[in-house]
Amino acid sequence: MGDALPINVDLVNDDTDVVNPWTVTSKSDSGVDYDKLIKRFGSSRIDESLLTRLENVAGKPVHPLIKRGIFFSHRDLHTLLNMKEAGQAFYLYTGRGPSSESMHVGHLVPFIVTKWLQETFDVPLVIQMTDDEKTLWKDLTVEQSMNMARENAKDIIAMGFDVNKTFIFANLDYMGRCSAFYQNIIRIQKCVTFNQVKGIFGFVDSDVIGKIGFPAAQAAPAFSTTFPFIFGNDVLPVLIPCAIDQDPYFRMTRDVAPRLGFPKPALLHSSFFPALQGAKTKMSASDENSAVFLTDTPKQIKNKINKHAFSGGRPTLEEHRELGGNTDIDVSYQLLRFFLYDDDKLESIRIAYSKGQLLSGELKKIAIETLQSIVSDHQNRRKDVTNEILEQFMAPRKLNYNFKEIKSK
Ligand code: TYM
Repeated sequence: MGDALPINVDLVNDDTDVVNPWTVTSKSDSGVDYDKLIKRFGSSRIDESLLTRLENVAGKPVHPLIKRGIFFSHRDLHTLLNMKEAGQAFYLYTGRGPSSESMHVGHLVPFIVTKWLQETFDVPLVIQMTDDEKTLWKDLTVEQSMNMARENAKDIIAMGFDVNKTFIFANLDYMGRCSAFYQNIIRIQKCVTFNQVKGIFGFVDSDVIGKIGFPAAQAAPAFSTTFPFIFGNDVLPVLIPCAIDQDPYFRMTRDVAPRLGFPKPALLHSSFFPALQGAKTKMSASDENSAVFLTDTPKQIKNKINKHAFSGGRPTLEEHRELGGNTDIDVSYQLLRFFLYDDDKLESIRIAYSKGQLLSGELKKIAIETLQSIVSDHQNRRKDVTNEILEQFMAPRKLNYNFKEIKSK
C-alpha cells in the first residue's frame, strides 16, 4: 500500500480500532493494536537495528521514549540518516492544534522527542499551531482559536526550545505574513482530489468546505520553501515527530511531494498516552477527566489519578498479593513508562507490582508524585514566558544556521 493515496474509506477505521487526527478509540482493553496499525497505514516498525543505527549517528543513547518503544513506527528514517551521514542538512517540523487553553501531559510526548532530536542533531525546527483547524473542527471562533494558539505556544516554549533555532507560527496569523505559505498550500491543493481526501480522512458531504482544503495547510510546512526567510529557495528534507494519529496528513504530503519537486517527509510516530480511564481512548483535551493538564494543581492531579486512573490491580488485597497486578493495562504504570526515565527504578516498580508486592494505591502515589513534579516544574518555567518572548519565537526571521556550510561538509 505504501504512500499511494487510498480512495477506500475502510482505511480510516477497522473493526476494533479507530485512529485518525480527530478520534482515537479501541475496543480492546490494552488499546490500539499498533502492529495492525503499521500494516494498515503502511509505515515501518522501529526495530533494534534502526535503534542501533540512530544511536550511532546520534553519538549517544536514544531518548527513553524511543528506547522504550513508545515511538514505535517511522517512515524513511533510514533515508534521513543516510543524508545526515553524508553531511546534508535537514529540519524538524511538528505542531499542535490549540483546542484548549492548556495542553495535557500527553501532548508533551512528541515535543520532548522533538527537543531531543533538535539538540542531538543541531537542526532548525518549525512548529505549526493549527488554529484554523480547530476553528473548523470545534465550536470555537477564529478569535478564540487564535488566542489558544498563543497560550499553547507559551507552553511549548516553556519546554525549553532554543529561540535561535526555533520558529513557531500560527496559521491564522502566518498566512497573512508570508505569501510563500499560501502559494505552497495552493500547489498542494491542486494535486489532491476530493475523492482522495475522503479516502484518507473520511470526510463526508455534510462537512464544511474548510475541512476539505485544510490538510494542505498541515502539509505545506513539510516543504522548506514555505519558510523563505529561514531556508531561502533551498529544498531541504524534513523529519516530523508526532503521534501516529497525524499520519494521514503526511501520507497525503508524501504522495504529493515528488510531484512538486520536494523530498518525501520522514516521520517518527509515537503511540498514545492513554486516557486516565484506560487505553481504549487516548488522553484528550476535549474530555476534562481523561487528562492531566499542564495547569492542574497538585491537588487536582492527586484527585484525578486516585479517582480516574484505571488500575491493573486485583479486586481484593489477597488476590493482588497472590496474583499480582497487570502493568499492561494499569494507567499509573503506563504513565511512569512515559515520564519516569530512571530505567532501574521503573523495572523494580514493574516487578514489585507484577508480583503483588506493590499495591495499586502505592503505584498511584508514585505516579501522582512523578506528575506533580513534572507539572509544577513546567508551571515555574511557563511563568517566565512573557508576550515579548512569544513574539520573538513567532517573528519570521533567519535562524541560527548556515546551510551552505552544512551542505558542503
Ligand atoms: P494535537 O494538538 O491533537 O496534538 C499535538 C501533538 O500531540 C500528539 N498527541 C499525543 N501524543 C501522545 N499521546 C496523546 N494522548 C496525544 N494526543 C495528541 C499529536 O499526535 C501531535 O503530535 N493537527 C495537529 C497539529 C499539527 C501537527 C503538525 C502535529 C500541525 N502540524 C505536524 C504534528 C506534526 C493537532 O491537532 O495536534
